[in-house]
Amino acid sequence: MKELILKVNNELRSVYVESNEILLDVLREKLGIKSPKCGCERGDCGACTVLLDGKAVRSCLVLAVEAEGHSITTVEGISAEKLSALQESFIQFNSFQCGYCAPGIILAVTELLEKHPKPSLEEIKESIAGNLCRCTGYTPIFDAIMDLTKGDK
Ligand code: FES
Ligand code: FES
Repeated sequence: MKELILKVNNELRSVYVESNEILLDVLREKLGIKSPKCGCERGDCGACTVLLDGKAVRSCLVLAVEAEGHSITTVEGISAEKLSALQESFIQFNSFQCGYCAPGIILAVTELLEKHPKPSLEEIKESIAGNLCRCTGYTPIFDAIMDLTKGDK
C-alpha cells in the first residue's frame, strides 16, 4: 500500500492504494465519490468518465497512482453549489432515463463546452462518441446541448 494525496473536486484527499488499483475503484470505494459508474471496466462504455486536469478520461483505464499531482473532477465537483446550466438543460429536455450514462456524458460535454462554447452537432456527437447510452437514442441529449449553446445544426 502506498499513500497518495489526490486532488479531487478541489480538495486534497489522502488515501492508501495498491499500485494496481484503478482510479474508478479508489474514487467509489475509498473516497465515497459515487458518480463515476462502472459499466465495463475496460474502456468501452464511458460511464466512469472523470475530468483529469479538465480532460475527460475513463477512470477505469487510469491507475490511481497516475492521478497523483493532477486535478480530478467528478459531477459532485461541478454541482456542489448548484446544478450547472448543462445539467439544468438536460433536466428540461428529459435527456436521461436510467441515468447510468449521465455523469460521464455531463463531464464529456463539460469539457467540450470549455473549448467550444457553441459547438456544432457534429462536435457534440464526437464529444460523447465514447459514452454509451442504452436508453435514449441520444436525441434528447443532443437537443439539450444544442438548445443550451444554440450551436450550428
Ligand atoms: Fe470505464 Fe466502461 S467502466 S469505460
Ligand atoms: Fe440509461 Fe443513458 S439514460 S444508459
